[in-house]
Amino acid sequence: MGTFSREERIMRRVIGLAKQGLGRVSPNPLVGCVIYKDGVKIGEGLHEKFGGPHAEVNAIGSVTNPADLAGSELFVNLEPCCHFGKTPPCTNLIIQSGIKRVVISNLDPFEKVSGNGVKQLREAGIEVIIGVMETEGAELNRPFFFSQKNKLPFVTVKIAQTADGRISTVSGQSKWITGESSRKDVQNLRFASDAVLTGSGTAKADNPSLTVRLDGNDKQPFRILLDSHLSVPAESNLFTDSFSSKTIVFHSDQITGPCGPKSSFLPVSEAENGLNLHQILEICFKKGIHQILVEAGPGVVTSLLKSGLVNQLVIYQAGKLLGNGKSWFENPDILQTVSDGIQLKLDSVEMIQNDLKISYLLKD
Ligand SMILES: NC(=O)c1ccc[n+]([C@@H]2O[C@H](COP(=O)([O-])OP(=O)(O)OC[C@H]3O[C@@H](n4cnc5c(N)ncnc54)[C@H](OP(=O)(O)O)[C@@H]3O)[C@@H](O)[C@H]2O)c1
Repeated sequence: MGTFSREERIMRRVIGLAKQGLGRVSPNPLVGCVIYKDGVKIGEGLHEKFGGPHAEVNAIGSVTNPADLAGSELFVNLEPCCHFGKTPPCTNLIIQSGIKRVVISNLDPFEKVSGNGVKQLREAGIEVIIGVMETEGAELNRPFFFSQKNKLPFVTVKIAQTADGRISTVSGQSKWITGESSRKDVQNLRFASDAVLTGSGTAKADNPSLTVRLDGNDKQPFRILLDSHLSVPAESNLFTDSFSSKTIVFHSDQITGPCGPKSSFLPVSEAENGLNLHQILEICFKKGIHQILVEAGPGVVTSLLKSGLVNQLVIYQAGKLLGNGKSWFENPDILQTVSDGIQLKLDSVEMIQNDLKISYLLKD
């Protein structure tokens, strides 16, 4: 294991604090903040929820004696904001507090801030260091950086498969491929997302709820259903449970959606293999849905992958063999060479009882 400098050690704590906001701050970034005076930690905080105070405000507010802030050092993983959004600019507060040095992992890609926060601090005579634990900071906020840059949601596809790559028996029976602990882990993926997306095939076959069922949970992501011809029965859980107002249905603009139901029905154009996925993702981004978890069958998953719209693939692989059955990626194209396949970058591997959780990245 490598050794860390003092600044890196402090930034690890900052990132640890930031992670506590997972699932609560999107579409904002995860941000933590720690304040030191004469080598002693005097305050810390994080951005706890969307619309709430920023990490710098909470950290500064946690300092017992505000006079101690004069001449102190502030560590934060993301460049402090310098614009009026839901809260006033953090740069003003930092400057007024008398903080003399600010250490940052990453610049904020958000147009109104990007580089301007640092400029304001330096103009006020504050020493600013950028790039401490830069890679770790970028990994922490990978979905935020991607969505800000591309104006599209970060898309994670989750698959539960056997060790020989099957998602169900030939007849479509799929409960349960993976163990209970893996299925609990999926709840965390849902919690961290702004929306869970599925296709009409899965909605009809499995009648899923796609809700977060974690102890003490008070947040439900949106549920997005791709149903070109509105063929999913109205009695389905997505329309009848207590979260039906969180269901968004995308359908073909060649038909008229129902009026006045609790769920939202949005028309989009049709493309080669179904609905226009790029248009759907653009609409989601504009609605503030910046992180999507896909829990769909081979139809939607294959279309998303072939359209280049997937950022991350999380495969829960069970210690089980079926020998035959359905596969989750159905590429009708006949590839001539192995190098024609879609390249995945291994991100992480974790053992969950008798299953493996494998994360791959597809693009930046
Ligand atoms: N093991 C796992 O991780 C897992 C997860 C989910 C599902 N499954 C299994 O997958 C099976 C269902 O597979 P499936 O492929 O039928 O389900 P799906 O991918 O959930 O839904 C496919 C349907 O989505 C609609 N759709 C709309 N736009 C589309 C587009 N651009 N591209 C593709 N589809 C689009 C189409 O129906 P319309 O024409 O009606 O719009 C299409 O038939 C079930 O057996 C289920 O249990 C397994």
